[in-house]
Amino acid sequence: MAASNLPSLNLIADAFKNDPRIAEARRLVSEAIADHSSNVKGVRKANPVYQADYEAMLERLTAVRGVPPIWPYLASGMGSGPFVELADGSVKLDFICGIGVHGCGHLDETMVQAGIDAALEDTVMQGNLQQNPASLQMGERLVELACQSGAKLEHCLLSTSGAMANENALKIAFHNKTPADRIIAFDNAFAGRTLATAALTDKASYRSGLPVTINVDYLPFRDPHQPERSQRWAVDELHRLLNRFPGKHAAFWAEPIAGEGGYYEGTHDFFRAICEPLRQNNIPIIFDEVQSFSRTSQPFTFQHLGLDDFADIVTVGKITQVCATLYGKSFNPTGPILSQTFTGSSASIATGLVMLEQLESTGCFGPDGANLIRGQHFQRGLQQLAQKHPKLLSGPFGTGMMVAFTPGDGSFEQAKELMGIMYEVGLLGFVCGANPTRIRFLPPPVITTIEHIDLALQLLDQSLEILEKKMA
Ligand SMILES: Cc1ncc(COP(=O)(O)O)c(C=O)c1O
Repeated sequence: MAASNLPSLNLIADAFKNDPRIAEARRLVSEAIADHSSNVKGVRKANPVYQADYEAMLERLTAVRGVPPIWPYLASGMGSGPFVELADGSVKLDFICGIGVHGCGHLDETMVQAGIDAALEDTVMQGNLQQNPASLQMGERLVELACQSGAKLEHCLLSTSGAMANENALKIAFHNKTPADRIIAFDNAFAGRTLATAALTDKASYRSGLPVTINVDYLPFRDPHQPERSQRWAVDELHRLLNRFPGKHAAFWAEPIAGEGGYYEGTHDFFRAICEPLRQNNIPIIFDEVQSFSRTSQPFTFQHLGLDDFADIVTVGKITQVCATLYGKSFNPTGPILSQTFTGSSASIATGLVMLEQLESTGCFGPDGANLIRGQHFQRGLQQLAQKHPKLLSGPFGTGMMVAFTPGDGSFEQAKELMGIMYEVGLLGFVCGANPTRIRFLPPPVITTIEHIDLALQLLDQSLEILEKKMA
């Protein structure tokens, strides 16, 4: 575990961590990882030998879960960089990574080592009553990153899911603005799957049969095809809401780049036009960075967009391995409304710290950082594919390491069909949005190379050719 900024105490734990047998075990694990992961060299078809067992496992998975999995993915536990081996013997180029979770790719040695250190700690899970130093370090590091360009987010609460991080953000905002009982969000919002975050999420089917727990008013998001008009609509609608429900809004909640909603980006000007009236009306602003964290020119996309002044409460998750809610001093609740038995596993906190360090040290950030450079390369490649297959691909959309395109006519059916063909060919991307449905990629920022992106483009080209033939 990285213990750099902690006092060196001569504890029994230190003697244990420094025991030469542990160093030797770690060395052997490193050696074994290198030996075996080097066999995962590139995309490979499934091996028919495993087919029957694989199908049986998928059937059992369906039976125990009650619904079939979204796609027939059961990983073997082995991988290398962006490549993952499945239990059917196939190897896929994983450019979706469980929706943006594998920032360092599969079976990254630094992550495994951090996980081993965490596994040697006394507790599997950390929480409100049992925190090890890594919890403190994670909170401090996230606060440091969040405040680095001026935002005032002095506090951090860890949690086990993005939905819980948002649930805590909403609680903090409601508590701060009591008795206000409404939230403003954008059309297409996705905040998670708890009762409150499902209410915030702008997708009726995700709320089917659920009670309405919070009142949400929606604004239209920025439309890249008519940026000025859509901004005017959004601002006008905001003013209408503020007049209709004076003093009733506890927060405005937004993803700086809409993720599940279809990779629609905000801009500095667009957000500023919305956030200024919110400030004047003393309505707290929550930025959900569960999907966008670490994928643009800065750790936080609110920083990339120059919105530090408006970030009152911010949530992160996915790539950080452990999720978190960050908030300013003035939002610190005056009652005991926040607590969790589990805030994260020791392994998720330790690997999260390594992830943050790797994102910084491998040059992902900055105006000329790897995220933007590789993202531009990816987008240029998608533009070329759009020229080659004009009826089957339009776009690209997104920024940095959040990239998407619209397949065919934008219908869910066509996107799903292409996603399935890509899966068979060996490229993992996933649908998002509705009307149009898009296919998105979340490549692992730390280890993705231009060669990996070129391979993804090649596999996509192949997939489009298959789709073209099917449609002919
Ligand atoms: C923007 C955003 N917020 C919240 C969530 C919910 O996170 P989790 O699935 O970890 O609860 C997601 C998940 O996709 C997300 O994309």
